[in-house]
Amino acid sequence: MCGIIGCAGRGSDTLSVLTHGLNQLEYRGYDSAGVALGGHRVGVRKRAGEIEALEQALQTDAPTGSLGIGHTRWSTHGPPNQDNAHPHTDSTGSVAVVHNGIIENHQSLRDELKAAGHEFRSDTDTEVIPRLIEEYRVEEHTAAEAFRAAIDRLDGSYAIAAVIEGVSAVFAVRNDSPLVLGIDTEATYLGSDVPAFLGYTDQVVYLDDGEFAELRGSAWEVTDGSGHPVEKSVESIDWDIEQTTKGGYDHYMLKEIYEQPTALRQGMSGRIDELAGRVTLDSLADLNRPDRVQFVACGTSYHAALYGARVFHELGIPAQSLLASEYATSPPPADDSLVISITQSGETADTLSALRNAQSRGAQTMTITNVVGSTAARECDHALHTRAGPEIGVAATKTFSSQLTTLNLLAEYLTEDTGGRDPRERLLALRDLPGDLLSIIDDSRAADIAERFRDAAGYFFIGRGYNHPVALEGALKFKEISYEYAEGLAAGELKHGTLALVTEDTPVFAVVTGDGETADKTVGNVKEIQARGAPVVAVTDRQTDIARYADAVMEVPETHPRVAPLLANVQLQLVSYHVANALGRSIDKPRNLAKSVTVE
Ligand code: M6R
Repeated sequence: MCGIIGCAGRGSDTLSVLTHGLNQLEYRGYDSAGVALGGHRVGVRKRAGEIEALEQALQTDAPTGSLGIGHTRWSTHGPPNQDNAHPHTDSTGSVAVVHNGIIENHQSLRDELKAAGHEFRSDTDTEVIPRLIEEYRVEEHTAAEAFRAAIDRLDGSYAIAAVIEGVSAVFAVRNDSPLVLGIDTEATYLGSDVPAFLGYTDQVVYLDDGEFAELRGSAWEVTDGSGHPVEKSVESIDWDIEQTTKGGYDHYMLKEIYEQPTALRQGMSGRIDELAGRVTLDSLADLNRPDRVQFVACGTSYHAALYGARVFHELGIPAQSLLASEYATSPPPADDSLVISITQSGETADTLSALRNAQSRGAQTMTITNVVGSTAARECDHALHTRAGPEIGVAATKTFSSQLTTLNLLAEYLTEDTGGRDPRERLLALRDLPGDLLSIIDDSRAADIAERFRDAAGYFFIGRGYNHPVALEGALKFKEISYEYAEGLAAGELKHGTLALVTEDTPVFAVVTGDGETADKTVGNVKEIQARGAPVVAVTDRQTDIARYADAVMEVPETHPRVAPLLANVQLQLVSYHVANALGRSIDKPRNLAKSVTVE
């Protein structure tokens, strides 16, 4: 949610480093964008709309400077116009600030500053920051002290970067919003997310809450709230810049759907011995089997949690899945619970808040995340990484599949010593999963089905058991990128109300894999739908006779019942993509949404 880039030490390349970083970060927000160059004088340029609008403006009117900061915005305070775009400045234009997060006491600060004569130009909470710095510059000795004094006045969550006239440094601070430094021999970078500077360095320093940073070319320093130096370790990132480009695909989302076989292979590599029936998860060596588990997550990750709770339950560990945003008002975790947050980014505010709530209630915590060094990974007791590689499209695709795979591995790992179970069949199915996914991607009829149903009035997605989270996820993906009405339901629930909306103009995607009572019941529901004249698209491994009642079939290979939903999900991802593409939607940057939601 909003992206920050900063750099010091790149001399005349500074502007191109900033605009490159903004393009890399655009998935975090795309309402408006801006840059400020500093060193000697401070020059700010910003525009409403996507980064392209800013780049066009810079072609004829570019600021110069030896260091700088940039921002791409997902608006929280005030509409997405040029005045509200970051960077924001003080009254003289000699301090420029970019900010992610929310300043909760901004109104009282604004009143105080107005009383001191400040005339605000924007509706944002951020603008109080440069104006406070301006005030403190009069009182304090140095720019660094003025920056620190201003930050001391703020309540809320923030990642902030600033440049100040006449000072050859980028100042930064973090509290509850991610900020990471990129370290190189000649220059230092700053990003709300690693892709911002991944093209220049893979050496990073993660800032912790309450830490300040000062970037001066190749020199950098991190200090705590009292100004004492903090020793930070420099870590290497194993993502490369190639992974953050579209690589010839029209959209990141399509590329990331196609990357799933590789992502899952990476996620399982070195973790499964299918012949011995054993899973090894090195990062969890000191974790004991919990008596029960609570999963907390949002959005797509919550659908992974629903799936995970079923897997755990089936393997003998009672588990619940809870929406992170509802966690604070949910019954507390029972003693000996392990609370597991599932979060692709590791930065989702609702999920972090649930994790902290669980910790404050004395629970042991774990995070399943794709981002090494993310806040969730660092704050929990145990971190398990999904290793899917960077995901840029706002719609989560490969990271969802990786979450489901990782949940299977974790459940097997934690129940390894439970007698009377043989996981080999399940592990073999996981081993074969990348190949099965590849065959779906190669043979999918999703584009034809999308063309056939793209103009419908609404869409329903149904499934039972393990296919229920897949139905929910199918609908979420569909509405998120196509902007068409879509609803996901447990198949049995349709007849309890929503069936009233089902007509010949509302296709129903029915996910039916495996055989037996659960699958047969969904086939029964499909017959009810067909009787109401709605077109049915069956996503199935044909182990039931559902194809007889369907208008179209999307096939998945036969596999273990717990693995089949992962295959069905990819068919639904492809349908969503092709419908959205046919309708000309903004697939990688859907309206109103951002990849990483860092406000509650
Ligand atoms: O980074 P997280 O997994 O914590 O994000 C949670 C949701 O915001 C996210 O899954 C969202 O629902 C997806 N981007 C939808 O595709």
